[in-house]
Amino acid sequence: MFKNNFLFIFDDVLEENLVESLNKEIINQKLPNPLHFVKKDKLNSNTNIAHEVISNIWFDKLSFLNDNTICGFECWFNSMRKGGLHLHVDCDEKHYHDYSEIVPPKYTSVFYAGPKNSIVGGELAINLNGITYFTDNKNPDIQQQPEKIKKDTKNWITIPYKYNRLIVFDSQAAHCVLDIESGTENDPRVTFTMTAWDKEIQVLT
Ligand SMILES: [Fe+2]
Repeated sequence: MFKNNFLFIFDDVLEENLVESLNKEIINQKLPNPLHFVKKDKLNSNTNIAHEVISNIWFDKLSFLNDNTICGFECWFNSMRKGGLHLHVDCDEKHYHDYSEIVPPKYTSVFYAGPKNSIVGGELAINLNGITYFTDNKNPDIQQQPEKIKKDTKNWITIPYKYNRLIVFDSQAAHCVLDIESGTENDPRVTFTMTAWDKEIQVLT
C-alpha cells in the first residue's frame, strides 16, 4: 500500500482528558506491560483505557490506511526520566528468540502521553536505510551521539517529543530515542507504542 520509509506525524490527536487518564495509568503502572496481544475483533473500549486509545487511534484517526490485513496489536508502555533507548527494530521477539530472524510488524505507532511541557533531548530518531542498518550496525549505542544523528539528515529523521503527538512509521526502520537532557524533572516522558500485525504473535512478558 505504501512505499518503504513512510512516516506520519499527527499532533493534538486525542481529547486531553483521555491523554491525562492514559498518562496517569501508565505512570501508576495500572496496566499490564506489555499488554496481551490485542486482537482487532476483541477490541473493546470498556476493557481498559489502552483498548480505548487503540480503538480511537487505529479505527478513527488512522482509518484512512484502510488496511484490512491488520489482525491485532502488540502494545507496551515506556516511562523515562533520563537516558534514551538503544537502536532497535520492533519485531516478533519470540520468533527472534527461537529462530534468530527479525520479523517486524506492518506498522509501528508511538503516542506521546506526557509531560505537557517540551523536553530537551528525548527525540525519536528513525534511520532511513531499512532493516539492514540495524542488522549491519556496529554502533548500537548511537543514541548517545545526538548531535551526530541530528546533523546527518540524509540518513536520519529526528522527531522531537510533543505532548499528544502520534507518530506512525515503517516497522522495517531501525530507530532509537536520543538521550533526554531536561524537561522530565516533574513528569517522565511517557509513550504508548502500538505495533500493528497481520498475524497474531506471542507476546513475551
Ligand atoms: Fe521501537
